[in-house]
Amino acid sequence: MLEQIKSTTAFIQSKISFQPEIGIILGTGLGGLVKEINIKHTIPYEEIPNFPVSTVEGHSGKLIFGELGGKSVVAMQGRFHFYEGYDMLQVTFPVRVMKFLGIQKLFVSNAAGGVNVNFDIGDLMIINDHINLFPNALIGKNLAELGPRFPDMSDAYNSGFIAKAKQVAAANNIKVQEGVYAGLTGPTFETPAEYKYMHAIGADAVGMSTVPEVIVARHMGIPCFAMSIITDLGVAGKIVPATHEEVQHVAALAEKKMTLIMKELIKLI
Ligand code: HPA
Repeated sequence: MLEQIKSTTAFIQSKISFQPEIGIILGTGLGGLVKEINIKHTIPYEEIPNFPVSTVEGHSGKLIFGELGGKSVVAMQGRFHFYEGYDMLQVTFPVRVMKFLGIQKLFVSNAAGGVNVNFDIGDLMIINDHINLFPNALIGKNLAELGPRFPDMSDAYNSGFIAKAKQVAAANNIKVQEGVYAGLTGPTFETPAEYKYMHAIGADAVGMSTVPEVIVARHMGIPCFAMSIITDLGVAGKIVPATHEEVQHVAALAEKKMTLIMKELIKLI
């Protein structure tokens, strides 16, 4: 795997002369952030050796390099989900490549179902911890060059970034929730009993991404920040059939707020 990471990194570096300091995974709700990036280079995933190709509707695949909030960034437009059939090495491969390209911080977004009774559809949630219900992305031989066999997860979501993001939200009159994200495989949305179970075990929101990427980033020592858009509710009495279209629709409505927080946070840190 190390050889693949190195050869993919070398390929990208042969195409561009640019050293990113921040990596961004433009999940649901952050598509608009691309418009804020002063783009220097774009590389479609299909041109990048060893990169999987994204298949999900609403996600197109490219790496975007440019300036945002005075920082040099690399943004993944389109991510790889476990439910698409990629294995965990493939799902997290781009994060490892971004580390080798030089990133020192990772910013991530997603859509999630709210299981906290105080949440509303359209809320933004700053993720302050996660519950991993995927197979762990680090199962397999550990590569000491990447990180330790038994990585610490006590500060999976950087507390300094969380504090600054809350300041940015308050300064811009944006309501934000904060909570625990449970990551599970999908592709089914949860049954009412499963939503109840997620709440019972300590989750505030549930989704199908982010956790593998953050685990792999933390393995390599990268501080992470992640936010969810609550696109549907798994709260007793408020459960309605969940659809991909509704998730995309609600996410589009909340996108401006999430984009602003991410952009201002990147400026600040
Ligand atoms: N469950 C899982 N993933 C999701 C949901 C949900 O309710 N909403 C958006 N992504």
